[in-house]
Amino acid sequence: MEERMYPPDFHALKKGVKQLIGFNTGQYKDAYLGRRFNARMRVYNIDTYHAYWEILKKDQQEQQQLRDYLTINVTEFFRDASAYECIQNDVLPMLSSEKEKIRIWSAGSSDGKEAYSIAMMCVELLGLKNAQKRVKIIGSDIDRESIEHARRGEYISKPNVPQTDIIKQLRFIKNPELYFNIQNNIYSIKSEVKQIVQFENHDLISGIKKFNFDMILCRNVVIYFNRELQKILYNDFYNALNMNGFFVMGKTETLFGDSRNLFESYNTRERIFKRKY
Ligand SMILES: C[S@@+](CC[C@H](N)C(=O)[O-])C[C@H]1O[C@@H](n2cnc3c(N)ncnc32)[C@H](O)[C@@H]1O
Repeated sequence: MEERMYPPDFHALKKGVKQLIGFNTGQYKDAYLGRRFNARMRVYNIDTYHAYWEILKKDQQEQQQLRDYLTINVTEFFRDASAYECIQNDVLPMLSSEKEKIRIWSAGSSDGKEAYSIAMMCVELLGLKNAQKRVKIIGSDIDRESIEHARRGEYISKPNVPQTDIIKQLRFIKNPELYFNIQNNIYSIKSEVKQIVQFENHDLISGIKKFNFDMILCRNVVIYFNRELQKILYNDFYNALNMNGFFVMGKTETLFGDSRNLFESYNTRERIFKRKY
């Protein structure tokens, strides 16, 4: 899709960033990296990748800034409500009628809101005791800070910023007090809900392979990956799913090439698929 040619100093920067901060730039699309580098370059009012590299090499703070900026971790509770409606009304009831133990993976979980959203839905469906007994949710992310945040499970609601207005995001939940200790604008996940979820620092590309899941959500993560890597990842997800397991993608993501043969569509609009065979 992206036909743009990038100058040699772009590729030198890409390589340098990998060596310097250990961020695997090879996994990401040039268009995505270009946008991110350009945004950081605007901060310094410079217009060559080489000039940015000269700054980056010497400035540890900028290295951290770039690392944070490359792993953007925007997320919400119940992001894309209609997908969660399908999960609540169809997917989870089906899984819970078929299986005694249900294992779910939120791959690229950011600060944990996706994993906790699913945990709340499981509790709504099964009740707390049963959900604790029957459901295990793994949240994983490459970004250590996000994982630490997820483990803390503390979120600040800012009603004037739509993306952080937690009350609005929790519209699925009749009684948020069941899941959160709420103090002023701070929402802290209760320990009994945390018990259902476990967070791990994990790189989807180079990390150990995972198995035995009944549902995998990998949403708004692979959009930044190049196509080759997306294909490898979809294959990994196929292998990681049990028979009849579900795969949930982000609203703007699609399966392509051979990976389309691995899954059948369960709800096309919501990007929910089922493992074939
Ligand atoms: C935009 S967030 C999506 C969060 C959540 N899944 C959602 O849809 O709301 C993307 C997350 O993917 C993570 N990520 C990027 N590359 C990754 C990789 N190679 N392995 C694991 N996580 C990765 C980022 O750190 C970030 O937290």
